[in-house]
Amino acid sequence: MIHRHDVIIVGAGLAGSRAAVEIGQVADVAVLSKVYPSRSHSGAAQGGVAAALGNISKTDRWEFHMFDTVKGSDYLGDQDAIELMVREAPETVIEMEHWGCPFSRTPEGKIAQRKFGGHTLDYGKEPALRACYSADYTGHVLLHTLHEQCLKHNVHFYSEFQVLSLIFENNKAIGVVALDMVNGGLHTFYGRAIMFGTGGYGRAFKITSNAHANTGDGLALVTRVGLPIQDMEFVQFHPTGLWQSGILVTEGARGEGGHLKNGEGRRFMEDYAPTLMELAPRDMVSRSMQTEIDEGRGIDGKDYIHLDVSHLGEAKLMERLPQISELAMNFAGVDPRKEPIPIQPTAHYSMGGIPANANCRVTIDEKRTETEGFYAAGECSCISVHGANRLGTNSLLEALLFGRRAGKQIVEDLPHLDFGELPADYEGAAKEEVDRMMTSTGKEKVGTIRKELQETMMIDCGVFRTKGQLEKQREKILELQDRYKHVTIDDKSQRFNTDLLEAIEMSHMLEFSGAIVEGALQREESRGGHSRKDFPKRDDEKFLKHTLAYKQDDGSWKLTFDKEVILKGIHHQGFEPMERKY
Ligand code: FUM
Repeated sequence: MIHRHDVIIVGAGLAGSRAAVEIGQVADVAVLSKVYPSRSHSGAAQGGVAAALGNISKTDRWEFHMFDTVKGSDYLGDQDAIELMVREAPETVIEMEHWGCPFSRTPEGKIAQRKFGGHTLDYGKEPALRACYSADYTGHVLLHTLHEQCLKHNVHFYSEFQVLSLIFENNKAIGVVALDMVNGGLHTFYGRAIMFGTGGYGRAFKITSNAHANTGDGLALVTRVGLPIQDMEFVQFHPTGLWQSGILVTEGARGEGGHLKNGEGRRFMEDYAPTLMELAPRDMVSRSMQTEIDEGRGIDGKDYIHLDVSHLGEAKLMERLPQISELAMNFAGVDPRKEPIPIQPTAHYSMGGIPANANCRVTIDEKRTETEGFYAAGECSCISVHGANRLGTNSLLEALLFGRRAGKQIVEDLPHLDFGELPADYEGAAKEEVDRMMTSTGKEKVGTIRKELQETMMIDCGVFRTKGQLEKQREKILELQDRYKHVTIDDKSQRFNTDLLEAIEMSHMLEFSGAIVEGALQREESRGGHSRKDFPKRDDEKFLKHTLAYKQDDGSWKLTFDKEVILKGIHHQGFEPMERKY
């Protein structure tokens, strides 16, 4: 079946939904989502959305937010895009308030704001209360507010459609082919503009805060049409995932005063970041925790640390951190009012992604050549506002703000965009993939391959990396790709075939994981979320550059390091990077 709309958006999280609200007011827009839209993973974000509103930290300004974001990015963020983001943050958040988003409030009725790691006043002098929050359900309330706006503006949703291929010819995005999960069967969607807001890829790692749906589908699909993906080596490990399940325990818990303690019962962050302590940027806290664990100072010598919030008292926990209190009870069996919560670093966010400029137009090379009619925003994109490491609460901001920008840009571009011509074999690749699985008889199982990928990515491409580990992981991925050719699925039915869905997702994860490993191998320095034990220093001379990874026909990756970071001065104004222990 063929569907034609002015604009096709893939992904109903904050970026996709926010763009749809903008477009729905003037054009015909369809949003495809692999889950029911209000179940998108943006809803799992807990602690807040950053904006220098100055509701509590009265002297806060966008310039401080910009400085923190650039410094937090370990100077790899593009400063033009960062400036735009921090300047437009207040209006973006207030717009959500006006649409009815139920933020927590200060006693005088303003949007409440809390501390988060790396956010400071006066260029690092003291912590800023900059994260606008709704208890620890911030992503949830933002997503629901946007969904209401989408319904108001007649956005056409196709829920539970898994996208299988991007139709892209002569540098123009033409459409996508998707599998209708509920009824089975392929559908082709074509439009004058195509936008990806397909989210992250945490599921490639064993311990992750990401939903099961986060399998980096958009990234895999762009690489299959020859487009690059950018800065993939930068994977963010959030310090506080629930032990073993990886479920997010918001940084807001530390923002409200929670302590991290090692097996000796000591607040070990005093050894690593004596000023900011638990509120140092996440990359630093995760490395500190991993060091404690690796050196035998985890709890009972095991691979976890304690997050203690018991001293905050029941009233504060119930008012500000109700979700994590419940999650700790249900998934770790501890009552945080009385006991510490067992936590470990968890794969949380991908700084890299589909290269796009600040207008959310997807670009194809180091000259930032634009594609036609193709846009990306949110976690799947790399507009590079986070560089090598994202500050907490800048992701909800990025998704909302660049979703909004993408929407406005598409509205502006639409009069100049035509429907492309569908190629003769537009469903070919997708049909072949589905047919192969439905007739498969091989001996390999998706579950086995997924487990091996997730475990090895965690060990050999995790918080710390070395050349030896990464070379081993590169081989491992090639081996798994080879074995994937012999995968069979047991369920050969049409309706809600989750066996088939998982096989498709697996092929995506095997695809982009290679780019993560190749980038990590070739980037012989440590910067932000990428920490090489064998190259412990940041090397600006060689690596103050973005990577672009292009998939080759033989399955290998060609990397270019010559995409320059856009600097606007912060790096050269004499601000020194944070002291590093590694
Ligand atoms: O810790 C958190 O609440 C996560 C926020 C974020 O990743 O921005």
